[in-house]
Amino acid sequence: MSVQPNVAQLYDRVKSVILPAEWSLFTPDIEAIHRLKRERNAVILAHNYQTPEIFHGVADIVGDSLALAREAMKSDADVIVLAGVHFMAETAKLLNPSRIVLTPDPAAGCSLAASITAQDVRLLRQRWPGVPIVAYVNTSAAVKAESDICCTSGNARKIVESLGVPKVIMLPDEYLAQNIAKETEVEIIAWAGHCEVHERFTPDDIRRLRLSHPGIVVLAHPECPPDVVAEADFAGSTAAMAEYVTRERPNRVVLMTECSMSDNIAALHPELDFVRPCNLCPHMKRITLPKIRRALETLRHEVTIDPAVAAAARRSVERMLEVR
Ligand code: 13P
Ligand code: SF4
Repeated sequence: MSVQPNVAQLYDRVKSVILPAEWSLFTPDIEAIHRLKRERNAVILAHNYQTPEIFHGVADIVGDSLALAREAMKSDADVIVLAGVHFMAETAKLLNPSRIVLTPDPAAGCSLAASITAQDVRLLRQRWPGVPIVAYVNTSAAVKAESDICCTSGNARKIVESLGVPKVIMLPDEYLAQNIAKETEVEIIAWAGHCEVHERFTPDDIRRLRLSHPGIVVLAHPECPPDVVAEADFAGSTAAMAEYVTRERPNRVVLMTECSMSDNIAALHPELDFVRPCNLCPHMKRITLPKIRRALETLRHEVTIDPAVAAAARRSVERMLEVR
């Protein structure tokens, strides 16, 4: 059960990234959301790409896709609000089907999830009989249901190698598949889906940053093209990038990923210099405080999954979570 926080104390956490005037506009929604969470016995799970007023202002649990899936499964709240994109809310529902799972905006999609259908997966299976299919968690439940096991950016290599086979199909992110292929002996057949946010970074962006900011440490998400990852100092999931900053405390750092991620970590490390050529994810940005408030007030939009699809999709996600 969440307690009403002191909103002024919350502001202290974000004052390096949110102006006082902006915060006073956010305050009525933040107060209402905390009250509604108590009344509804609700929790808010927020992805690392949510804006700082959500991430630091109202979320109970924050993290990468893998952490949010694990936390959704464990939650004993009556209502789970997933502040993230639709596939994340679907994954939460798959793992904790007896809870009411709400998405503040059902139109919050993902270019990777949109790049492949269940029928595409069935055709891949016909084309490569016997080759296991690893589905990135950034896919619909219908695609997960046609796949053998899921993975996230935080465990992709481990999942691929856990299958003990010489060849796998990894979908739908071509760049993630190519980045993992460089780290493993397993042959990887990729699909040609791309993240519309990460595909826009180029190796030249990094070279220019190194010239203009000598000594800068460059972190990249593995959804970036392989030539971008090759130019970076470190590549990992959103959680792995956050952990890197906390552990290594680079004086000056740039995250080749979604913009709010830098803001959220910068709020925790005001002493470090975050350089921000970042790209916005328009889908993540559909989630706002007023929409979260409305979701809690009206218990909309509830995520539902066809039971026949859900059973098979759940198996793929659970298999992933069983790999240690
Ligand atoms: P993470 O699992 O690393 O948080 O990534 C999710 C995502 O959508 C990145 O674009
Ligand atoms: Fe999808 Fe890319 Fe947005 Fe992540 S950043 S939700 S992969 S479109």
